[in-house]
Amino acid sequence: MHIKKAILTGGGRATRLFPITATTNKHLLPLAGKPMIFHAIEKVVEAGVTEIFINTNPGDRSLPDFVGDGTHWGITIKYFEQTGGPQGIAHVVKEAEQFIGNDPFVFYLSDNILLGSLSGLFGEFSKGQFDCMLALSEVQDPERFGVPYFDQNGTLVDVVEKPKNPPNNFAVTGIYLYGPGVFFDAFTHIEKSARGEYEISSIHSYLLKQKKRVGYTEVTGWWKDTGKADDLLLANRLLLDTAAKSNAAMKEGVVMGAGVTLGDNVRFTGPVMIGDQCTLANCSLGPYVTIGHGSRIDGVDILDAIVLDRADVSGDFRIEKSILGNDVVMRGKAEKKSPYIVMLGDKSVVQF
Ligand code: G1P
Repeated sequence: MHIKKAILTGGGRATRLFPITATTNKHLLPLAGKPMIFHAIEKVVEAGVTEIFINTNPGDRSLPDFVGDGTHWGITIKYFEQTGGPQGIAHVVKEAEQFIGNDPFVFYLSDNILLGSLSGLFGEFSKGQFDCMLALSEVQDPERFGVPYFDQNGTLVDVVEKPKNPPNNFAVTGIYLYGPGVFFDAFTHIEKSARGEYEISSIHSYLLKQKKRVGYTEVTGWWKDTGKADDLLLANRLLLDTAAKSNAAMKEGVVMGAGVTLGDNVRFTGPVMIGDQCTLANCSLGPYVTIGHGSRIDGVDILDAIVLDRADVSGDFRIEKSILGNDVVMRGKAEKKSPYIVMLGDKSVVQF
């Protein structure tokens, strides 16, 4: 049973990442120089998916306009708007039923980043012994996730959403595989949770209680956005490290875009990615820095940061652990041993 269809999430408000996400859809924020959702798209395409359906917030054209119709990856991508307000992620899948019909599919929460491949999970599923396949990962804080419950024999018997006292350290990651009709039948049997949402864990709990064949594999190198700037920076670091190992374009840890102008005294400590048409002078960049297209950096040292497009950063100071939105202007002079740690929304102007 080979999976050709995928549902990806592209909606939500991401208020905890304000001000950046006040103007940019979270899924378009760059991680290692690529929009977050591209990483999800590429994972499922690599696993053999040819049709992707992405949910968007009503009226949000930014994601479809940017991501396009899938030609870039040789597949098709269609979009569907979430109706009736946010009602939980199981409801997102229900809304895509018309596209899925009776085919098997993968549901992928696009803010989940997997460093490894999906081939193990897809390979197990394609043997045809499972109605549903979950990807588990060991975590420090299982109470923030769906948690698998096992009986004394080690058999998976339940999945509980954000339990107060988790019995083990596993999380059910946001990557789920379903056989024909399995999900949509289960959806008709679940109720909204206390927080008013159709929980994806309720689907899995129902399937297990019905003695459906729910399999699982453990995935490693999994990271999930928990809605904080630190999490984005961590994902950026992990993906840059992975790119540094595998990306042929990354020479000595640096990927340089087209038309970059390098002035005097520019030092790189990889991994670093510089977008197209940037102008750099008198600066030290890296490790773990991505600079968006058309930016100008002069006189400033930057470490562990995500800088979006057309930033204009100059003077004599240092930035660390920071996210700068599109069209940010930052100018000033400050002791480099006291770095700035900032999260600046699009078009912010900071002078000091
Ligand atoms: C959702 C699911 C949870 C899962 C997590 C993975 O949680 O409800 O079961 O473990 O995604 O990303 P949320 O991120 O909506 O809190």
